[in-house]
Amino acid sequence: MLLCKTLLRKGRHCCGLRLLRCAVTIVAVVALVMVLYSAYYLGQAHVIQAMHHQPPTVRVTCGAPPANGAASADDDARHRSAARLRLEPKVLLFLESQYSARAKELSTLLTASGIRYKIVTSAALPTFTAGGRGRYGALLFESYERYLAMDAWSRAIVDRYCTDFDVGIAAFMPAREESLHGATLPGSALRIHTNLALRDARLDPESPVLRMARAGETLWGAVPGEAHTVFVHNHTSYRPVMMAELGGPELAAGRLQGAPLTVVVQDCGYHDGIRRVLFGVSPMFWLSKLLLLDALSYLSHGRLAGDLERRILVDVDDIFVGKAGTRMKPADVEAMLASQERLRSLVPGFTFNLGFCGKMLHSGTDEEDAGDDALLAAADKFWWFPHIWSHKQPHTFANRTAIAEQMALNKAFSAKHGIPVLHQYAVAPHHSGVYPVSDQLYEAWREVWDVRQTSTEEYPHLYPAGQRRGFVYRDVRVLPRQTCGLFTHTIMIDEYPGGRQVLEDKIRGGELFQTIVTNAISVFMTHLSNYGNDRLALYAFESVVRFVQCWTRLRLQTEPPDRLADLYFQRFPEQRDPVWGNPCKDQRHLNLWRLAGNASVCDRFPKLLILGPQKTGSTALLSFLSLHPTLRASLPSPQTFEEVQFFNGDNYLRGIDWYLEFFPVPNSDSSVYLFEKSATYFDGDAVPKRVFALLPKAKLVVILLSPAARAYSWYQHQRAHGLPVALEHSFLEVITATNQSTRALRQLRNRCLEPGKYAAHLEAWLRYFPAEQLHLADGERLRTDPVTELHRLQDFIQVSPRVNFTKLITYDAEKGFYCQRVPSGSGGGSRTRCLGGGKGRKYDPMSDDEERVLKKYFFIFNQRLSKLLKRIGKPVPDWLVRELTDVPATG
Ligand code: A3P
Repeated sequence: MLLCKTLLRKGRHCCGLRLLRCAVTIVAVVALVMVLYSAYYLGQAHVIQAMHHQPPTVRVTCGAPPANGAASADDDARHRSAARLRLEPKVLLFLESQYSARAKELSTLLTASGIRYKIVTSAALPTFTAGGRGRYGALLFESYERYLAMDAWSRAIVDRYCTDFDVGIAAFMPAREESLHGATLPGSALRIHTNLALRDARLDPESPVLRMARAGETLWGAVPGEAHTVFVHNHTSYRPVMMAELGGPELAAGRLQGAPLTVVVQDCGYHDGIRRVLFGVSPMFWLSKLLLLDALSYLSHGRLAGDLERRILVDVDDIFVGKAGTRMKPADVEAMLASQERLRSLVPGFTFNLGFCGKMLHSGTDEEDAGDDALLAAADKFWWFPHIWSHKQPHTFANRTAIAEQMALNKAFSAKHGIPVLHQYAVAPHHSGVYPVSDQLYEAWREVWDVRQTSTEEYPHLYPAGQRRGFVYRDVRVLPRQTCGLFTHTIMIDEYPGGRQVLEDKIRGGELFQTIVTNAISVFMTHLSNYGNDRLALYAFESVVRFVQCWTRLRLQTEPPDRLADLYFQRFPEQRDPVWGNPCKDQRHLNLWRLAGNASVCDRFPKLLILGPQKTGSTALLSFLSLHPTLRASLPSPQTFEEVQFFNGDNYLRGIDWYLEFFPVPNSDSSVYLFEKSATYFDGDAVPKRVFALLPKAKLVVILLSPAARAYSWYQHQRAHGLPVALEHSFLEVITATNQSTRALRQLRNRCLEPGKYAAHLEAWLRYFPAEQLHLADGERLRTDPVTELHRLQDFIQVSPRVNFTKLITYDAEKGFYCQRVPSGSGGGSRTRCLGGGKGRKYDPMSDDEERVLKKYFFIFNQRLSKLLKRIGKPVPDWLVRELTDVPATG
């Protein structure tokens, strides 16, 4: 107001030139006032920050030095006892519903930590033992009430298992709306108070449950969530693990004031012989997740404990690539080097791993170009790996030569500037070509840089992050890459999506922290821009490393990528073989897939697979089905006797681009129904999992022929192919071969007998596919009455038009089998086209002895098959009924 009056007074004295000067003065004063006003009221912090902007400083402190001792290799063995030897490293997880947020949190945590688990949601209990060993190292209840409410029978089984095998129970108290005060927890001397708000959580440094978790400083502030439970105890069986203070209006009630409240309690089992760890806080709270991993280790005698080594590697992609205005300046390079030194004191060997594209050198502002020079001047202080010269996505190049040329330019660049590239590691821009795999990238990498390791966050998918895995393709070891919450565009802390607290939360117990906790090896991805501007990467990594050291005993270390790849695949050898997914089902993958440019590529996956087994009439079925106008079989493979045989054996490692070459591009007629037959699929161990990963909706056809007839046909097939062992031995000798027989004879025996154990193989398929997707053709009827079988199959596939196969096939007396009808001449007559001499061979029937031996041998397997067929609602073929009657007596 005062200011307004002054301005008015001034205005009265203004005239002419003076008037103009006065006006200018007034405008200037008003402008100044507005700037100050807006600085003060509208965006004070922002304006002032813009004038003196400083990157955020690391503020993670740990109070007193860690109370429960420094980390040492002995911690790895902390919970171990001889009892662990009788237990499987698996959790039995009791969930209220698989879909609740808590349930998801628990299963995500276990999956991300590499802990195997079996989920129980219904009242039915699984079997607890196998071969004298306990199948579960610990039991975990999403809700302890589920355990308390078990019927007496089930409860006795669970308790008996726990006492017999000394296996413990971890359980969460359910969040409840009503408040209980001082209620006694059934079956214990614990009293509970529920529905409390809590704050200032801390761990008891004396608790023997702590292994990975360290009693760091108090976690000041409210414990996330509202309806917590506390345990009150005064018996030696109970010990606190986590404590907290009351955080809500209960303070006023004064009922629980005084002693610290136990929110996670260890029950040593002095009452009933069962050790427990009970959680009064939700599994959503990061500290309870950390404690849960320790509890599972403690309760399983260390059987569910991983080691405490954690390797982290921080990649900095896009060196020289960043947009002008967002790149690093000389001061940022200095800050990065200083941060690297500080990190080395906490993480031995810590070194930033820089990925470069030479073409973009000096493409920033003058100061940023000086930043590029500063990076090059400090080249020997970092590790380096190549992108390609121009940052173009490898899967978009025309061919391998074009990629290799670009890589060669980058290589020359590194030589010119003295950039040391030492670890046979490379990363492709935007993961392109790494997964989905593109051969031209892998070949060019090999040719130019002799690359042996890379990383991606796309395998098998970006999300869920806890399920990322590694694989080996063309001798290049692909490591899973983790996200740290920083992207090319997250460069200023106050502009962090959702606010800076979101980043803080990721560091303080959230995603970034959890990633380090749950992964033995974490390769993180950051970008050049995260080191300029607010240097968010320096902030995030220094903070999270301090936080990890404050709250855990994990031993952090950095090693170069070649060493990490050694360690990773030593630890997870089962991950070496990739499992291919369908890129059409993940838009990110589709964007990175070389074949995505081809029209209708997503229609080129088969919808139907004939799985075999071998010698059941699979070729006849393939040839008859191919007569259908809509069904189109894969092109024959010259290499594998016509069959593609992709999902079993080494062809699988050639990748799906190779597989799809066998499926012709559909023309404009999109009703074409593609299918494939490889009779080796049925009994291939890895096949069901692989098929499910690529073709989860595929319809599957299995032909069931008497396993004795199948075995004999296989033997004859081998004789026809001149296999010496088959020519030298009678069929009886083959099927009665013992473990003392020659290797060749045992192998032939196995190939005769093993595929015929139908039930076991079918169960393997049913672990992935619902029975509705499976059609069981009768191999005997396929031979004697194929038309009926084809019509059944046609109904199953539901393909149109519905064809009358009587018109397409007919019996050929000379061949002794059904054959294709082929029109001959103009008179409307027809002749037949039969399968070649290798199918439907002429040989003597089995001897009575051979038949008897096989009937007896397969009896139990056939019995299992019959039970299985009834269980899944499939018809029992006549031959099976025959095999199960009049079985010769044993002996
Ligand atoms: P044999 O040659 O021992 O008689 P597959 O194609 O799976 O290898 O199976 C070969 C078997 O298919 C043959 O074994 C034969 O018995 C059976 N088969 C069924 N229908 C046939 C047909 N129409 N033509 C030829 N073989 C047929």
